[in-house]
Amino acid sequence: MLNPASFSKLLLLPSLVVSSLLFSSPVRAEPFAQGDFNVGKSMVEKQCVACHAERFGGDGSAIYAREHRIVKSSRGLLAQIRNCNTMLDLKWFEDEELHVANYLNKTYYKFDK
Ligand code: HEC
Repeated sequence: MLNPASFSKLLLLPSLVVSSLLFSSPVRAEPFAQGDFNVGKSMVEKQCVACHAERFGGDGSAIYAREHRIVKSSRGLLAQIRNCNTMLDLKWFEDEELHVANYLNKTYYKFDK
């Protein structure tokens, strides 16, 4: 027969397993969590890719993976998106810049903070 003490251990076991699963999964922080990937993707395809492709060839994505690329952090990425936004006079709002940052980061830069 189970005494009350070992019975409570039995109950504890599953919850320990569950919590260790939760906490052992790598914690992947996401710098632009407020942004919407799909919205960002279509914005970039509409406004940005053609020029990058024209200057850097292929589908334009080489620009994000150049050896001496400009962007070196998630902050730098947002700053660069702002520069292009201003230069091109697109008048994107901050939340729109975050969509684009989310998309570019997940697809190319992969900064985790
Ligand atoms: C008229 C052409 C043109 C357009 C349109 C354009 N870009 Fe760029 N972009 C460039 C050029 C040229 C560079 C490289 C600048 C350099 O090397 O100094 C660049 C660089 C970048 C980089 C930095 C790449 C790196 O080195 O890490 C990012 C990010 C970027 N652009 C984002 C955008 C976004 C987002 C848009 C759309 C709003 C956009 N660009 C539209 C020409 C353009």
